[in-house]
Amino acid sequence: MGLVKVASVSEVKADSVNEVMVGDTPYAICNVGGNITALYGICPHRGGPLGQGTLHGQFVVCPWHAWEWNCATGENDMDPSQKVATCEVKVEGGDVFLNLPA
Ligand code: FES
Repeated sequence: MGLVKVASVSEVKADSVNEVMVGDTPYAICNVGGNITALYGICPHRGGPLGQGTLHGQFVVCPWHAWEWNCATGENDMDPSQKVATCEVKVEGGDVFLNLPA
């Protein structure tokens, strides 16, 4: 699929999490102190919407049961062997793109 524009930088406020959809697939766009990263938007625990979570330091907090996932690595804070998939982000010309596999 390649680069897909999902937001403008101005929409991804500092220290926030935003949910975006690419087709039927949700992604959680994190902005941690200006560093924008993306995770697959479905929580590995029970399927909660990570993009509707909140930020706790460098972790996104799932809105369903408050499990926390590292915005950069996807690792769970308590058990790094559990991970949510990460997605490469490119910021260019004021827009945020996800680099999605074909
Ligand atoms: S579904 Fe995310 S913590 Fe339970």
